[in-house]
Amino acid sequence: MLINEQAYHTIWYNNENKCVVIIDQRKLPFSFETIELKDIKEAWHAIQDMAVRGAPLIGVTGAYGMYLGITNLDPSELTLDKINKLGDYLKSSRPTAVNLEIIIDELIANLQACEPQSWEKEALVFAEKIKQREIDYCSSIGDHGLKLIEEIAATKPGETINILTHCNAGWLACIDWGTATAPIYKAHQKGIDIHVWVDETRPRNQGAKLTAWELLHNHVPHTIVPDNTGGHLMQHGMVDLVIVGSDRTTRAGDVANKIGTYLKALAANDNNVPFFVALPSTTFDFNISDGVRDIPIEQRDENEVKYMEGIASNKLVNALIMPEDSKAANYGFDVTPARLVTGLITERGICEANETAISEKFKDLMS
Ligand code: MRU
Repeated sequence: MLINEQAYHTIWYNNENKCVVIIDQRKLPFSFETIELKDIKEAWHAIQDMAVRGAPLIGVTGAYGMYLGITNLDPSELTLDKINKLGDYLKSSRPTAVNLEIIIDELIANLQACEPQSWEKEALVFAEKIKQREIDYCSSIGDHGLKLIEEIAATKPGETINILTHCNAGWLACIDWGTATAPIYKAHQKGIDIHVWVDETRPRNQGAKLTAWELLHNHVPHTIVPDNTGGHLMQHGMVDLVIVGSDRTTRAGDVANKIGTYLKALAANDNNVPFFVALPSTTFDFNISDGVRDIPIEQRDENEVKYMEGIASNKLVNALIMPEDSKAANYGFDVTPARLVTGLITERGICEANETAISEKFKDLMS
């Protein structure tokens, strides 16, 4: 998608410098900077510290991180045991987005099918391949979600379609298009009159900082709202559709996404507003059914809650916004039970959030 009218991906391999380049999302929207990752530790830190974030991008960074890890191995260390250790190390960076473990396990399975001398080359080929696969998945999610928006538009000729989203499930969270934003971008490109309500998404403000920034650069009308505003908007008929992303969705359709998603789903349910979750197949965890019980929820540093970053007098400052001695809790994600989800928008089409519907679409991936 566009940054200053130029097309970008969030991650790419620089063959000349033999490194992986990422957009440093910690710096947005105040400055646009890239970072070169040269070893697996740098990839681990980029994920853990959220220079890259969002489930699909975390997964693809994991694949490139494995390549960087293998590149720096001594030939005597090219053993399956060592590769598994590299994988476990990267998986320990963040626990909730299942894409990371799915993609690392897929990469390791691929390597097992070839000789250790070719692992370095194969790992890079794999990372480039799954990067393109995630782009294709997101584009298909956009095509399927576009149909939903077109159906709503047909019921309100001449009126704006208002879509609410939470956190950043945009192209910055993926490689291109985004998941929740893919139908939005496709609808906008088709000339449908849409407007996006962007939840600010405390504590890291991914909505206000990232979703707003990417929508702005791609010319999509939007308004940032404090996190608690969605219910009010829905009560007043100001939201036609909610679309959010996911970090892990169970085989029964329970959805883990950024903290606060569950409250939006409750409000949507109470106000008969359709609540859709957009996700690629790499975000399903087919091994579990009960999301509240079984999805690991990341807890991050309390200082992310206690301090807020912004510009003051032309300088970037990190301001304390509560009594310093009070404790703060920082749960990264919550789980929206399947019963509150109207449907899942996937690269294979839209399906209901229940085990029967999911297994009809993804039989080949479920054991
Ligand atoms: O903590 P983050 O910023 O990595 O959380 C991101 C989200 O919750 C997204 O909604 C999710 O990863 C889906 S991204 C397409």
